[in-house]
Amino acid sequence: MLIDSISKMRQLLSNISNIGFVPTMGALHDGHLSLIETARKHHDIVVVSIFVNPSQFSPGEDYDVYPRNIDEDYTLATSVGADYVFSPSVFEIYGTGSLTNVIVDDTLTNKLCGAARPTHFKGVTTVVALLINIIKPQKVYLGEKDAQQVILLKRMVKDLHMDLEVATCPIVRDFDGLALSSRNTYLNDEERHEAIYLYQSLLVVKKQYDIGERNVEALKKSLAEVLKNATLAKIDYIEILGYDDLQSIETIEKKALVAIAVFFGKTRLIDNIVLEGGF
Ligand code: PAJ
Repeated sequence: MLIDSISKMRQLLSNISNIGFVPTMGALHDGHLSLIETARKHHDIVVVSIFVNPSQFSPGEDYDVYPRNIDEDYTLATSVGADYVFSPSVFEIYGTGSLTNVIVDDTLTNKLCGAARPTHFKGVTTVVALLINIIKPQKVYLGEKDAQQVILLKRMVKDLHMDLEVATCPIVRDFDGLALSSRNTYLNDEERHEAIYLYQSLLVVKKQYDIGERNVEALKKSLAEVLKNATLAKIDYIEILGYDDLQSIETIEKKALVAIAVFFGKTRLIDNIVLEGGF
């Protein structure tokens, strides 16, 4: 069922105690669908939200042109087991403007994607907290593709003692390894071809790590070398940080996040792998 009102959504969910929730911005692809399929296995009711959240886009970003196709998304979401697709208007969520935000500390938000997009994560944490407050799920399902988003939202849930769990699902990739993203549709043929070097560069890091390399600078150097093959790409960041705290490290001794972001024109693509740490 497609729902656009908060009160209707609350009314439908009021007597349900086992809800799985998958927040999305729509333009659904197999990555989103894998989250819905996983939630379907564990809950009486699965709610998918489709809301292109204006507050997580900065001026000049792609809010206006972000792909929107609610009919197709509804069909896809329900075909893999969503019971309710919650697709409210911006007015329904924010009214004439909200004065309240949920902000996770700078130590987690001012690096990686937050460095170039300083207000982005404030928009994400606020809207997810707000949606959780409407849907009251037992579990929220997030994709590991947005690693920093996962780390922040887990921290928000912990710090605010929200009574729910966060489940994460692996990155779903295209046939050639490119992580699926609603933004891949912006790429022209040449850019799409070069985009394979994102995952290739992460695989090279994994390979070196597997044969014993633990030095962060050395690993970053090999990664950058592979990314050079993407001649049309402008690197936003190449980082290897401690997982959970996102702190800088020189040597990988415990779980670490290898994260990259590049621009093809105005299109920003991200990808990551996690190294488990230890020798
Ligand atoms: P969106 O980009 O639509 O992504 C919704 C969810 O799908 C996120 O948890 C994201 O990590 C996951 N996802 C996207 N691509 C994936 C892939 N290739 N494999 C696995 N999972 C993937 O992330 C957002 O929306 C928004 O910030 C949101 C959390 C909905 C708040 O507005």
